[in-house]
Amino acid sequence: MAVPTPAAGGPATHDLDIQSVRKRYGAFAAVDDLSFSVRRGSFFSILGPSGCGKTTLLRMVAGFIAPDAGDIVIKGASMRGVAPNRRPVNMVFQHLALFPMMSVGENIAYGLERRGIKGAAAKAKVTDMLRRVGLPGSEGKRIDQLSGGQKQRVAIARSLVLEPALLLLDEPLGALDLKLREHMKVELKQLQAEVGTTFVYITHDQSEALVMSDQVAVMNHGRFEQLGTPQQLYYQPQTAFVAGFVGNNNRFEGTIESRNGEQVLLRTAGGMALWSQRVGTLDVGQPATVFIRPEAIEIGRSPRELPEGAPAWSAGVQSVLFDGGNSTVQVLEDRNQTPLHIALPLTGRLADLKHGETVHFAYQPAQAWCFAA
Ligand SMILES: Nc1ncnc2c1ncn2[C@@H]1O[C@H](COP(=O)(O)OP(=O)(O)OP(=O)(O)O)[C@@H](O)[C@H]1O
Ligand SMILES: [Mg+2]
Repeated sequence: MAVPTPAAGGPATHDLDIQSVRKRYGAFAAVDDLSFSVRRGSFFSILGPSGCGKTTLLRMVAGFIAPDAGDIVIKGASMRGVAPNRRPVNMVFQHLALFPMMSVGENIAYGLERRGIKGAAAKAKVTDMLRRVGLPGSEGKRIDQLSGGQKQRVAIARSLVLEPALLLLDEPLGALDLKLREHMKVELKQLQAEVGTTFVYITHDQSEALVMSDQVAVMNHGRFEQLGTPQQLYYQPQTAFVAGFVGNNNRFEGTIESRNGEQVLLRTAGGMALWSQRVGTLDVGQPATVFIRPEAIEIGRSPRELPEGAPAWSAGVQSVLFDGGNSTVQVLEDRNQTPLHIALPLTGRLADLKHGETVHFAYQPAQAWCFAA
């Protein structure tokens, strides 16, 4: 599948240009001929499942691994043969490497000292950085007096204080509990906007990528499936992988029965006829998959509650997953026994659905996509 490449950039507007970069381990391509650019001052995320090559790519940017082919250009300068400590980048890891025997202030000042910045100048930078990461006045604290989230902030402060052109972050929130992660992702985005440093952030958590990023690249098997804004990935997925990986989605398998302009009709084995948007080439008779978001489906206890004229199907309620405004119901569609997640109306109207009840559902074809299987 062709990957839309961002508009050609240059050192004037882009801090990072990856040019046809490859890395193989034996016959296995961990990073497979990747090319992309990261705009200066942006929050760029690389989102993909475990093993897709995210860390390998980031370590090549940092200089810990050399590419087999291609070039990495930072601020217009090729990094070929440039040692990690000579690159204008800094990396924050999932399992941060803070010095436990040093105070917070000493941890942050460590890199500055190695660059010859000492005394009052270093102190002022440390104070400023701690304020920016929401830990003002914590210079004297010991590392073991900090919570997980606070430690992560110190790790980020320690990297940012060196004023890198690029901050590379490898799943920095991965070790934190869910609640703290939710909080930190909002903070990290605010911090990035405030300091204006270009962030390249890797994660396998789609919610992190959607919330924080200006641009997200969805990576799979060493390649990018799609690069775009969070909204583009969510509302206009270009591949079945992206539709399945970004956000929740329901999927129906079947065969294309007919086509009308950009819409196609998929017939499932159980006989459901589903209209949806065609993505890529798709011809009558081809096996295909339709994706429909939980929130694009309307649900009611009777077909009369659904929009008039829309085709509707029936399903049996399996369970209601109550989660306030994100509540969903799991149902089993009657014809194919396809399991579906459907968002519940925010009014709470159907929050009392019970296992075994019959419901009816419908959706808008404009909010469903069909890809070749
Ligand atoms: N030194 C190595 N030797 C052989 N194979 C490697 C080596 N490093 C990584 N790989 C393989 O390359 C692939 C990509 O690894 P990488 O660490 O980049 O994945 P990742 O996307 O960061 O995954 P995760 O989300 O689990 O951190 C994996 O299949 C991994 O097993
Ligand atoms: Mg990794």
